[in-house]
Amino acid sequence: MSWKSFPKIELHLHLEGAADPAFIRGLAKEKSIDLQKIFDENGNYKYDGFGEFLSTYEAATQALQSPNDFKRLTQSVLENLAEHNVVYAEAFISPDFCGGRDLGAWREYLAAMQEAHVAGVTLKGIVTCIRHFGPEKARETAKCAAETASDWIVGFGMGGAEDVGRATDFAYAFDIAREAGLRLTSHAGEWGGSQSVWETVNDLKVERIGHGVHSINDLNLVRYLAETGIVLEVNPGSNVALGVFHSFAEHPIAKLRDAGVKVTVSTDDPPFFHTTMTREFEELERAFGWGSDDFKRLNQTALEAAFCDATTKEIISKRLDT
Ligand code: ADE
Ligand code: ZN
Repeated sequence: MSWKSFPKIELHLHLEGAADPAFIRGLAKEKSIDLQKIFDENGNYKYDGFGEFLSTYEAATQALQSPNDFKRLTQSVLENLAEHNVVYAEAFISPDFCGGRDLGAWREYLAAMQEAHVAGVTLKGIVTCIRHFGPEKARETAKCAAETASDWIVGFGMGGAEDVGRATDFAYAFDIAREAGLRLTSHAGEWGGSQSVWETVNDLKVERIGHGVHSINDLNLVRYLAETGIVLEVNPGSNVALGVFHSFAEHPIAKLRDAGVKVTVSTDDPPFFHTTMTREFEELERAFGWGSDDFKRLNQTALEAAFCDATTKEIISKRLDT
């Protein structure tokens, strides 16, 4: 069946990664930037493997040059979310791509993003440092996050190449964010193994992990995640598209859930992976026979794990019931 009208929550969505290729092509044209090399003959994003994915992703962000570009991007992402009845989403946003981590510029970008609006969809932001840009830039990013913590900027996270440095190198950045009252998440266990997840939970003290799927290879870690209630932001379509797993059927999300780990489902960078929240649900139904009760359970886990305030949660909870 189609799960398009089923209400959904998405906790792991990179704002720039959610930009439709046509939107980026349009912006590039307006600014006379040549980005032809990042598109294939069908106009889709082109990459082969994770390293190239990150390069294509960063090249696409070159078209996003002003607060107004980010307002337009946020508006278009909200419209895409509404189409799939995503009633609440948390988006990763990076000061690196919004004025190069300058606090004054960052405030302007942020204000512009918050002007975007679609009825029935609530969006919150998680300021995100990029691991392969290094710990110093991560600290600058954390300072931007700390200065702009609010009921809209609700968290701090880290994406990027997991094989660069160790989690502990970024502990200071996460300390800055934590002291500002921000909730914490970090990518780990996507390309790295269970050791990377252990280091991330121990050294960064996060309450959610982006991906975390390689935890499945370490029974002690699975048990630890289940006992502590650390939530995994799982992105099955992303993992399959990037070759982390061959297929949905081979994806460990069902095993993790059945072992008591709190799992949620998101799209990561939907147009890059030719996915949507609706497609994720459809593939999970096909691979594991998941249905309405399973998706309600996913929503409940996501609602509890969301970084927003209690009043917002009440509003979202009502939207899930309709
Ligand atoms: N940034 C955008 N998508 C990402 C992913 N899947 N892993 C790490 N960093 C990312
Ligand atoms: Zn991600």
